[in-house]
Amino acid sequence: MASISERTFIAIKPDGVQRGLVGEIIRRFEQKGFKLVAMKLTHASEDLLREHYIDLKDRPFYAGLVQYMHSGPIVAMVWEGLNVIKTGRVMLGETNPMDSKPGTIRGDLCVQVGRNIIHGSDSLESAEAEINLWFSPEELVDYRSCAHEWIYE
Ligand code: RTP
Ligand code: MG
Repeated sequence: MASISERTFIAIKPDGVQRGLVGEIIRRFEQKGFKLVAMKLTHASEDLLREHYIDLKDRPFYAGLVQYMHSGPIVAMVWEGLNVIKTGRVMLGETNPMDSKPGTIRGDLCVQVGRNIIHGSDSLESAEAEINLWFSPEELVDYRSCAHEWIYE
């Protein structure tokens, strides 16, 4: 059942950080009405990145994907809200920016699939696994948004 405390893992990839898109991406999630629960700038280890994309380990682009994700800092975040996993994916756009509609993050801000600037969890199971992989429980901040009553009826 849909829950307003649903959480997703969103990461701004090294190209998004280097291109100065951190503020623009965070703005979109904030203005939508989702709640920021955790955030850090981190240079992730190759081991963590291999684990993060473990489902793709047999794909030809896996090694290059891990290198790309390891090539600079990542902004790792947890966002919370009603249907945030699915809505977050809609806000991201398609995996390939060429197929992403204008108005989406990938549709507006990047060009090629191997430099698609942002990651978002694709299911409840992957969101839970990714949040646990990237954050310790103490890093998830428990607070009530003062806008809560103006976002939810
Ligand atoms: P993500 O996990 O990063 O949010 O992306 P996604 O679900 O939209 O797509 P996924 O299939 O999980 O692929 C993960 C990332 O791998 C890179 N990729 N490269 N060269 C290629 O054909 C190719 N296909 C995928 C992209 O960076 C993609 O986001
Ligand atoms: Mg994926």
